[in-house]
Amino acid sequence: MTRTFDIERARAETRACENIIHFNNAGSSLTSAPVVDYLCEFIKLEESVGGYESVEQEAAALDNFYNATARLINCNTSEIAYAENATRAWDMAFYGLSFNPGDRILTTMSEYGSNVIAYNQQAERYGVEVVFVPDDQYGQIDVEALQRMVDDRVKLISISMIPTGGGLVNPAVGVGKVARDAGIPYLLDACQAVGQLPLDVEAIGCDMLSATGRKFLRGPRGTGFLYVRSTMMDKLIPPFLDQHAADLISPGEYRMLEDARRFENWEQYFAGKAALGVAIDYAMDWGLASIRDRVFSLAETLRARLREIDGVELTDQGQVKCGIVTFEVDRADAYRVKSELHKRKINVSVSDGSGTLVSFQQRGIERVIRSSVHYFNTTQEIDIFTDALKDVLALNR
Ligand SMILES: Cc1ncc(COP(=O)(O)O)c(C=O)c1O
Repeated sequence: MTRTFDIERARAETRACENIIHFNNAGSSLTSAPVVDYLCEFIKLEESVGGYESVEQEAAALDNFYNATARLINCNTSEIAYAENATRAWDMAFYGLSFNPGDRILTTMSEYGSNVIAYNQQAERYGVEVVFVPDDQYGQIDVEALQRMVDDRVKLISISMIPTGGGLVNPAVGVGKVARDAGIPYLLDACQAVGQLPLDVEAIGCDMLSATGRKFLRGPRGTGFLYVRSTMMDKLIPPFLDQHAADLISPGEYRMLEDARRFENWEQYFAGKAALGVAIDYAMDWGLASIRDRVFSLAETLRARLREIDGVELTDQGQVKCGIVTFEVDRADAYRVKSELHKRKINVSVSDGSGTLVSFQQRGIERVIRSSVHYFNTTQEIDIFTDALKDVLALNR
């Protein structure tokens, strides 16, 4: 069930809203006041009682990280591992898989650059073939083509649900159905989806899912998590093990933890981990369906305004488009536009380089400006932003 948004409360609890227009939520969102306050308290506790002692004192909040995350994506707490970011979470799953020469990995054109680098590294090491499933007419992964490409050689289906450089939402559920029917492990990079829309690993059918804290979940930087389905746990070999992930039983014998914590490090950003639990509870208190509805609708308003501006070309793909709004600017340098907007206290980012290379090369795009909204943004801010953008573009004419 969705509910009307208490936008005044959302903004009052997002203190920077008074000073800046933050349209860089896909980069790193603004952390809410309850989360920042809790994080600061934890750090002060570390200062006053000691690092190890603060972990004992905040044991319930640290435990809550697992409970909150499991509720967020509908799994068991034993299937969650804390990670310092989405990339490392993803790596712990991906590099835990074994491949043989001739095996295939199926992925999307819109796959995240770091993941593509990792596929290529394993391709060099094991003779794996990396296959990019074509897009359909909407620019999202073509699920029917995926279905046709499935055979005995395919050992992994691995996609980014929402790419780094666009508003596309890939059909993760349709992909999950193909993977499940064929019994192929399915790794979902949900880095830009988590916190922006409801995610249910049962409905999606993924076996592994990676996510970050700082983006749409509005958690602290340097936080993330990995989900590993219980039936997948023993099929993955954690690429690193330490004495948190495993117990040394004798000089020549160790035993891994039973649960997903076998993918964690002993030393962790404990304050961030507990605060990420607070951020997840906070997001769930707003309701993920309500957040999605507001974010998607603000993004549609922003797209409509941008369509009216001469020299702006929207580049978002997908049948379903999310809160990330991307566009090219004619006769203007994207980085200059970004810095001119920044001078006017408006934050956006630029997507180019490795992160989006496969898709952008195919589409003949070099770089885009990425303006990503969250639920605390408003239509008034969209108006201020589009007016400022027109001014900035006029500087170049
Ligand atoms: C689709 C996608 N996957 C993974 C990542 C990496 O996330 P992190 O920086 O938390 O490792 C990003 C970051 O932008 C991303 O957009």
